[in-house]
Amino acid sequence: MNKVGLCSDHAGFALKEYIKQLLTARGLEFEDFGTHSSASCDYPDFAHPLALAVEAGEVYPGIAVCGTGNGICMTLNKHRDIRAALCWNPEIAALCRAHNDANVLVMPGRFISNEEAEKVVDTFLHTPFEGGRHQRRIDKIPIPEK
Ligand code: RB5
Repeated sequence: MNKVGLCSDHAGFALKEYIKQLLTARGLEFEDFGTHSSASCDYPDFAHPLALAVEAGEVYPGIAVCGTGNGICMTLNKHRDIRAALCWNPEIAALCRAHNDANVLVMPGRFISNEEAEKVVDTFLHTPFEGGRHQRRIDKIPIPEK
């Protein structure tokens, strides 16, 4: 497994710190793109650097957290090669890997417990992409060239 990339805003900071403990306990390396405190901040300032690092192959996968998960997910998915998936239970985490080959896991820090987030992270990290018809669909996600 490569180095995992992490980011959050203030609303996701506590869960991001918890995830760092989980990754360390599992012997996984990570790079934290911030934020680095619970002070109010703007999620795009941290989502864009994570997205660029995933696209460059410097980290994989990414894990991102904001309050609802939506703002940070919207920002990440502006990047052409990012497939960020908002997950709030392990079933969705499994399907976004198996069917969507998601390369960034996004969670809603204000709406998920640490215990549930742990299950989501473990499922996301260990579920392979199924390929096949799902690869064909993924290939159609980018806006076609004119
Ligand atoms: C911050 O208050 C909150 O708006 C942010 O974390 C996120 O939920 C936005 O989508």
